[in-house]
Amino acid sequence: RPFQVAIDGPAASGKSTTAKMVAQRLGFDYIDTGAFYRCVTLAALSKGIDPSNQTQASQISNLAQSSHIGLNTVFSSSPSSLPTTRVFLDKKDVSSEIRTGTVSKHVSAVAAIGPVREAVLQKVRDMGATSTSHEGNSGRAGLVMDGRDIGTVVLPNADLKIFLVADSRVRAERRLQELAKSGSKEEGSDVETVQKDLERRDELDRTREASPLRKADDAVELDTSHLTIEGQVDAIVQEVHR
Ligand code: C5P
Repeated sequence: RPFQVAIDGPAASGKSTTAKMVAQRLGFDYIDTGAFYRCVTLAALSKGIDPSNQTQASQISNLAQSSHIGLNTVFSSSPSSLPTTRVFLDKKDVSSEIRTGTVSKHVSAVAAIGPVREAVLQKVRDMGATSTSHEGNSGRAGLVMDGRDIGTVVLPNADLKIFLVADSRVRAERRLQELAKSGSKEEGSDVETVQKDLERRDELDRTREASPLRKADDAVELDTSHLTIEGQVDAIVQEVHR
């Protein structure tokens, strides 16, 4: 089977950027599982459903099952430039819409709904099974997946599991820079607000009943507070080659 790399960690720990660049370096496929929860959240919000209202959980679960979610990652031939992932919800490109503050605010409540997780798990596994057909430039086929429960639930037998951590202030600063670059920075968002939102989201992700955020016993922990993105990528690529 293809070589599997599982990357987990709290919000804005650099998972997607790192995972994408690792995939690019090795010629592996890439799947961002957070995008699935974000799509379900967006679908619910656009139907006027309030995700924080627990009585709406079954409606949101139905949406999770019936929505079609697609990812398309475009890799670059230059190893240092960042690959881009477009996200499609029922064929519509929602790549920037799913990164807005409104979606970020509600996504953890949606991801805490058990049947939503089951629906996403099925979709993510199906995508993983169909995407890894070609050999990467490292001579083997592989897959990099990032999220919160990849090493523990989605790919429990992954060949390499990484758990990224970073100081919440550093993460908030990185998230703001990222939002400014993508043009989706909402008015009035300052570093304190973003940091508080990240911490609140991590707490929800860690304490929920359905597959909470936690480091798999056999995962390698990598603190990225003082690492550059290249440093992070190098460290993981080295682990793959070990
Ligand atoms: O990674 P990202 O910030 O896009 O993920 C958004 C949210 O989706 C997380 O805060 C978490 O609540 C949820 N998530 C999850 N399990 C995953 C990936 C994301 O619960 N595997």
